[in-house]
Amino acid sequence: MALRGILGFEYGIVQAPLGPDISGPELVAAVANAGGLGLLRAPDWESPEYLKELIRKTRGLTDKPFGVGVVLAFPHEENVKAILEEKVAVLQVYWGECPQDLVVEAHRAGVKVVPQVGSIEEAKKAIDVGVDAIIVQGREAGGHVIGQEALFPLLPRVVDLVGDQDIPVIAAGGIVDARGYVAALALGAEGVSLGTRFLATEESYAHPLYKKKLIEFERTEYTDIFGRARWPNAPHRVLQTPFFNEWKSLPAHENEANQPVIGLSTIHGKEKEIRRFAGTVPNLTTTGDIESMALYAGEGVGLIKEILPAGEVVKRLVEGAQLLIQQKFSEI
Ligand SMILES: Cc1cc2nc3c(=O)[nH]c(=O)nc-3n(C[C@H](O)[C@H](O)[C@H](O)COP(=O)(O)O)c2cc1C
Repeated sequence: MALRGILGFEYGIVQAPLGPDISGPELVAAVANAGGLGLLRAPDWESPEYLKELIRKTRGLTDKPFGVGVVLAFPHEENVKAILEEKVAVLQVYWGECPQDLVVEAHRAGVKVVPQVGSIEEAKKAIDVGVDAIIVQGREAGGHVIGQEALFPLLPRVVDLVGDQDIPVIAAGGIVDARGYVAALALGAEGVSLGTRFLATEESYAHPLYKKKLIEFERTEYTDIFGRARWPNAPHRVLQTPFFNEWKSLPAHENEANQPVIGLSTIHGKEKEIRRFAGTVPNLTTTGDIESMALYAGEGVGLIKEILPAGEVVKRLVEGAQLLIQQKFSEI
């Protein structure tokens, strides 16, 4: 049996955008080359020329289509313009209202718009403005978490809401292997979007020690202790590291602004100081106390046992799902 692709891609497998710069050209191209939808991540500040460079660099590594993720809570208009000028296949948006004008403009440029939502209300709004697919994020997800509901109850409600409209629903949160993929399909999704699994790949731009911790630790927690000053009211899910466990009850008035500098990082070409409790993800350039930084991960992290090439992740998802369906469900 063959699994159906979505949005013109061979497979319904999405590599989530990993902010601020963890899903770079190498990771996105590897996913694209394997038949999935890879998503770059636009900077959290206006930098259209830099973004065009990122897109062109990715095009140098793959002939296949790919997309870019934009966090709408940060300045983004010039970046979106650059994305539409470059005519990538997909514009993924998160954390903010996706206006109808944006969808119309994107469609005029031949770019599909795919928001990530965390509630039925957000899904309704997305359908109303004419999006091309919807990513439903459950509370199990790694990184920032926009909703309160678990994926299993929320996903089928969004599927029912979409009904027979041609809007594929994509599941996100805690999915790392073929079993999760098949479960999402059973709930009515046509695709899956994986963050943590693609973070733990050879091509991701995450710091090697961060990748090591993804293998080592099994538990995560939903919290708000990181990045309160820069991105307020934005809960997230992180690894339960010794640093996190020591500080998880951080008083509400504390934030990263007046904390000591614990490292340095070059993010999208800009050198930045990382203060304790900053929301910054350690990337390949980061120096300092990596283990005390925000190490985002989803609840499926305990199932990740090795760092793999990203193409292998896609292959195992597809082949594993086909096998599982054949062996467990075909003769019912
Ligand atoms: C390190 C990291 C960074 C992320 N950055 C973004 C982002 O910039 N934009 C976005 O839409 N989602 C982001 N996410 C969330 C993913 O889109 C997705 O919802 C989540 O990874 C799914 O859960 P999983 O990690 O269990 O697969 C991020 C996730 C992680 C782990």
